Amino acid sequence: MNLDSLDDWRRTHNCGELSKKDVGTQAVLMGWVQRRRDHGGLIFVDLRDRYGLLQVVFNPEMNPRTHAKAHSVRNEYVIAVQGKVGVRPQGTENPNLATGEVEVLAQELKILNESKTPPFPIENEAEVAENVRLRYRYMDLRRKRLQENLILRHRTAKVVKDYLSSQGFLEIETPFLTRSTPEGARDYLVPSRPNPGSFYALPQSPQLFKQLLMISGFDRYFQIVKCFRDEDLRADRQPEFTQIDVEMSFVDAKDIQECMEGMLEVLFHEILGVELKRPFPKMSYQEAISRYGLDHPDIRFGMELVDVTDVASRSNFHVFTQAIQGGGIVKGINVKGGGELSRKEIEELIEVAKVYGAEGLAWVKVETEGWTSPIVKFFQTEDLQEVIDRLGGETGDLLLLVADRVNKVVHEILGHLRLHLARERGLIEERTYQFLWVVDFPLLEYDEEQKRYVAVHHPFTAPKDDDLAHLKDAPLEVRAKAYDIVLNGTEIGGGSIRNYRGDIQRLIFEILGIGPDEAEAKFGFLLEALDYGAPPHGGIAFGFDRLVMLLCGEETIREVIPFPKTQKATCLLTGAPATVDPQQLKELHLKGEI
Ligand code: AMO
Ligand code: AMP
Repeated sequence: MNLDSLDDWRRTHNCGELSKKDVGTQAVLMGWVQRRRDHGGLIFVDLRDRYGLLQVVFNPEMNPRTHAKAHSVRNEYVIAVQGKVGVRPQGTENPNLATGEVEVLAQELKILNESKTPPFPIENEAEVAENVRLRYRYMDLRRKRLQENLILRHRTAKVVKDYLSSQGFLEIETPFLTRSTPEGARDYLVPSRPNPGSFYALPQSPQLFKQLLMISGFDRYFQIVKCFRDEDLRADRQPEFTQIDVEMSFVDAKDIQECMEGMLEVLFHEILGVELKRPFPKMSYQEAISRYGLDHPDIRFGMELVDVTDVASRSNFHVFTQAIQGGGIVKGINVKGGGELSRKEIEELIEVAKVYGAEGLAWVKVETEGWTSPIVKFFQTEDLQEVIDRLGGETGDLLLLVADRVNKVVHEILGHLRLHLARERGLIEERTYQFLWVVDFPLLEYDEEQKRYVAVHHPFTAPKDDDLAHLKDAPLEVRAKAYDIVLNGTEIGGGSIRNYRGDIQRLIFEILGIGPDEAEAKFGFLLEALDYGAPPHGGIAFGFDRLVMLLCGEETIREVIPFPKTQKATCLLTGAPATVDPQQLKELHLKGEI
C-alpha cells in the first residue's frame, strides 16, 4: 500500500477534547483506528489516541476520493484526518463518550501506517491470557485500563514530588552500580570489566546512601527510585520495583509517621477525592500477630483469632494436646453464618489451610440443638461450650481451629484463612481505605538455617532505648524503632530510626554474627562515616507500585508497571534474560558454562 507522509499537516486537537463548543471548527486529528463501520454510503471510524475516542465520518458527497480511501483502513491503522467538527444528528449521540455529541466530517485522509491484525482486541476489556498480553505489551498498553493506570501512576508520582518538595525535601540520586546492601533478598550482580573477579550489586534499596546523605547534612531526602531484589515473585513482588524512598534527620518515629500521613492525605485527596482520617491507628507487631495472624493485617473486617489453648489442653484430642505439650497453641476463628457450608466446602477450606502449612483443620458447626464436629467426642460438653463462647459462636456459625507446635504456623494459617474467607464471603467493603501503622517489631529473629540472629527489618535499625540493655542477654526480646505502614492488608511501606552511633551499630553487627573484620570489609565506609558526626536520623520507603496498585483498584502490581516480568523473572517481550556472546563473557572474565 502507498502510505502517506505527514508533510505539513499538524495535529490541531486530540481525540478527547472536542465538544459542542467546537462545532464548525476545522480540525486535524491523528491516531489509531479503533473500529471502522461501513454503512453503505457512510463510513464511520472511531479514532483513538490516549486522550479519548472520536467519531469520524466519511461521506461520499463531501469528498468521493477520501471516502474511497477510507474503505481501505483497518483496525489499528495510523491515520490523519482533516475535517470540520459537526453536531451528531439527533438520536445518534453517545452519552458514554466525552466527545459523544460531536463528530468530524472528514475532508482529507492520510494513511500514515498499516497494522497487522492485532493479537487481541484493543477496544474492549476482553480477558486475554497474561502471557499474550506481556508478549505484545506495547499493544496491551494501548488498552484503556493500562493507559489509565499509567496516567494515574504519573499523577501519583507528581503529587508525591510536589508534596515532599513543599516540605523541604530534596530529590537526590544514588548509584545503581554499588555494593551489596542487605535487605533480605539476593543481590543482582554486575561483573566489572576493568576489575576481574569483582562485582557491583544492584541496590536492593538506597538505604546506606540515604544515611550517608544525612551525615552530609541533606536533612530531608527523597527519591522515587528503582530497587532490585532477586527473590521469589508473587502478585505484589517484582525483581525490579520502585520505592518512594525518604530519610530525615533530627526526628523520631512519630515525626516521620506524621509527615508521611500528610503525604498520603494529600495524595488520596488529589487522586481519589478520598479524605483520610488522621492520625492513622497504630498496633504493635505482637497484637497484629495475635489478633490477625499476620504482621500486615487487614482490619476492615473482624473474624479475629482467639486463643483456646487452655481449654483444648483439657481435651483428649491428641492433635491438640500433643501440639500444646510441644510448646504450641490452639487458636480459632468464627466464620459467621458459615454453618451453611457443606462438607465438600469445608474440605476445600482444609485444602486451603494445607497450602499454608496446616496438617489439618478442626471445625465445629454451632446448631440450635448442640453442634456438629469431628472433634466433639474428645471434649467434655462444658469445655466445648467454653470454646464456642470464647469464639462468640452462635447458631449457624462455623468455628475453625488450628493446632501446631509452632505458634507462627498457627498464626499464618489462620491469618491467611481469614483473608480467604473474607474474600469468598464478601466481608470486605470495596473502596474503603484502612491504613494502619504496625510498630514495635522485634529487632532480631533467629534463623534456624543460618544458625544465627538476623535483623527483622535491616541491620541499620535502632533498638528501642528501653530494650538496649538486653541486647546481649535477651536479644529476641529487644524491640526495634521500626514501623510498617499497611493499607487494606498490604504492606505498602516500612522504615525505622537508624543506629547513628558507631558503637551501637558495631554492637548490632556483633550480635548478628558479623565480626569486626567482616563488618569492616562490608560496611567499613558506613562505620567510618558514623564516626564523623552522624546526626540522629530515620526514614521510610513506600512500595510505589503497591501504592499505585491500590489506588487503581488492581490486584497485582503487574497491572501498574509498564513492562513487568513474569513469575520466573523473565520479560516475554524482549526475551530477557538471554545468553550473551562468548566474547562479552570473556571481556568480563567470566566462564560461559554453568
Ligand atoms: P523494605 O524492604 O521494607 O524497606 O521495602 C519497602 C517497601 O518496598 C516494597 N517492596 C516491594 N515492592 C515490589 N516488589 C518487591 N520485590 C518489593 N520488596 C519490597 C514494599 C515494602 O514495604 N530501605 C528500607 C526502607 C527504610 O528502612 O527506610 C526498605 O527497603 O511495599
Ligand atoms: P486426624 O486424627 O488426623 O484424622 O484428624 C482429625 C481431625 O482433626 C480432622 O478433622 C483434621 O482435619 C483435624 N486436624 C488434624 N491436624 C490438625 C491440626 N494441626 N490442627 C487442627 N486440626 C487438625
